Amino acid sequence: MRVAVTGAAGMLGTDVVQALAAAGHLCIKADRDDFDITSYKATESWLQKYNPDALIHCAAMTDVDACEAQPEQAYLINAVGSWNVATACREIGASIMSVSTDYVFDGTKSEPYTEYDRVSPINVYGFSKAAAEAMVAGSGAKYKIVRTSWLYGYNGWNFVYAILDKAKSGIGYLNVVDDQRGAPTFTQDLAVKLTELLALPHNGILHVTGGEVCSWYDFARAILATAEYNTKLRPVSTVDLNRPARRPANSALNNLALESLGLNKIGSFRDTLDGMIRAYEEKQR
Ligand SMILES: NC(=O)c1ccc[n+]([C@@H]2O[C@H](COP(=O)([O-])OP(=O)(O)OC[C@H]3O[C@@H](n4cnc5c(N)ncnc54)[C@H](OP(=O)(O)O)[C@@H]3O)[C@@H](O)[C@H]2O)c1
Repeated sequence: MRVAVTGAAGMLGTDVVQALAAAGHLCIKADRDDFDITSYKATESWLQKYNPDALIHCAAMTDVDACEAQPEQAYLINAVGSWNVATACREIGASIMSVSTDYVFDGTKSEPYTEYDRVSPINVYGFSKAAAEAMVAGSGAKYKIVRTSWLYGYNGWNFVYAILDKAKSGIGYLNVVDDQRGAPTFTQDLAVKLTELLALPHNGILHVTGGEVCSWYDFARAILATAEYNTKLRPVSTVDLNRPARRPANSALNNLALESLGLNKIGSFRDTLDGMIRAYEEKQR
């Protein structure tokens, strides 16, 4: 299959490109230098030129606090950009798989969110991604929306690298939030799953996350223990950090659709930490 990837130079996009190639697809990479998704003309002419059968849409404005500070930009890239990409896909008869987020929910549910729960975002990033979902679903293209959470991987700056960096700097203790829960998701695992999902014919929303739910505090503790750092952790609450954007307390997503399709779920973050630590050390050389 000819598969285009937007955001191909991003943290997830880089792994999606590799997973597609490994599965034998012809992958066509696109990032901001190829076309800006906020321009329909540029998006359409790029898609017409390369004429893929399917597109995996990873491009987005992903800095949650920057979205809060620049709501117009967040809507332009995340919502209008997704509309442009999905509509241009429809025009050339390509399907779209659009990556979305746990932040479409408010986090007040006591259980993990299912694909059938109503979206209820509490920050600009979440609103812009919920709008993106509606636009992709309403575009007329064949679509899948894949919601995921707490991404980390070898290619982008992320929580695992940030914790290792602080520990390596010799800092005595670290304040880490312990009142937000979610499933850290390794981008290589997610990329393989997205590639598997390409073959499924139907439209709809799927949740695809790592297999273990924890707090950021628990995640940091596992990272430090695996890397054998003695850095002390101090649990803090979300309000203590005083970040510009609100965060959902419960980000756990039930991977119900994946299960009902008979597809394997992704494993725990614990299985990936040795590799992440090696990748971090490589980056330091
Ligand atoms: N990171 C997470 O924890 C997380 C959690 C849940 C869901 N997601 C979703 O997963 C997807 C991938 O996230 P990620 O963390 O891999 O993101 P990322 O590393 O920030 O990559 C996003 C990519 O999109 C590109 N991009 C941004 N604006 C663009 C534009 N106007 N036109 C063309 N390309 C543009 C960026 O290019 P520049 O670098 O030039 O801006 C970047 O290469 C996103 O849809 C995100 O919302 C992420």
